[in-house]
Amino acid sequence: MEKNAVWYTNGKGNNVKVLVCKDYDTLSKKAAGILAGIVNVKPNAILGLATGSSPVGTYKELIKLNQEGLLDFSAVRTYNLDEYYPLDPSNDQSYHYFMNDNLFDHVNIDKNNVHVPDGNAPDMNKACESYEAMLNEVGGVDIQVLGIGGNGHIGFNEPTDTFVGPTHVVELTESTIKANSRFFEKIEDVPTKAISMGIASIMKAKKILLVANGTGKADAIAKTLEGPITPWVPASILQLHPDVTIIVDEAAASGLKEYKPAE
Ligand code: GLP
Repeated sequence: MEKNAVWYTNGKGNNVKVLVCKDYDTLSKKAAGILAGIVNVKPNAILGLATGSSPVGTYKELIKLNQEGLLDFSAVRTYNLDEYYPLDPSNDQSYHYFMNDNLFDHVNIDKNNVHVPDGNAPDMNKACESYEAMLNEVGGVDIQVLGIGGNGHIGFNEPTDTFVGPTHVVELTESTIKANSRFFEKIEDVPTKAISMGIASIMKAKKILLVANGTGKADAIAKTLEGPITPWVPASILQLHPDVTIIVDEAAASGLKEYKPAE
C-alpha cells in the first residue's frame, strides 16, 4: 500500500512529533483528524485557531465532518491567535472575517463561544490584557493550531531579540507585510500592526498542532526543529513544549537533515 504519511524522528526522543505527508490534501485530513478526535472525546473542547492559507484545508475537512454529522461544534469554544490592527472585524481582510468565511459560518458553532482579538479596540493595550485574562481564565486551550511564517513567526510573533510572553501589540516586519499583501488589493492596505497571542500564551496550550506546506516553509521548518532555540526563529521555542505535532508536506520537510522516517 502506498504510504501517504510517514512519521519522522530525530532519534533523540524529544517531544516533537513530525508527520510528513505526500501532499496538502493528506496533511489537511490528518490535521482535521487530530482536531476532530479531541472534540469527539471532549465535546466542550477549547480550540486555539490560526488563520493564513495553511490551515484552510484542515478547516474544509472539519466542515465536511460537521456536515456529515460526524463532528459537533455546539459546545466547542475557540480562541484565535491574532488579528490585524486597526481593522474592523467586518473588513473582508480581517481575521474575524477569515474565520467566519473559512470555518465558523459553515459549522454548528455558537458564535458566543468564538473569540478573536479585537482589532478595533479603542485601547490596544487593554484589548491585549483582557484577551490574555480570558486565556488564563480557561487555563489554556486544549489544542493550538499554528501555521508558520516563512521567517519562522507563529501567530504574529515576529523574529526579534526577545521572546514576548503575553498577548501584545506587534509591529509587523516588512517580510510579513509583503507575504500577506497577496490577500490585499495593494501593499499599502496591509495594516502595519497586529494584536497577537504571545509566546507564553501559545506555550500554555496543552497540545500544539503546526501545519506547513510548500518549499517556502522548508527553511523555517528546518530551523524550528533543528536549529537553536532563539527569538530570531520564534517557532523554535516549540522544541520546549511537551506535546507538539508538526504536520508538513514533502516540500516543507525538504530542509530537514536530522529528522528521518521512523523505522
Ligand atoms: C500570518 C498569520 C500566521 C500564519 C502565517 C503564515 O502572518 N499571522 O498565523 O501562520 O501568516 O501564513 P500562510 O499559512 O498563509 O503561509
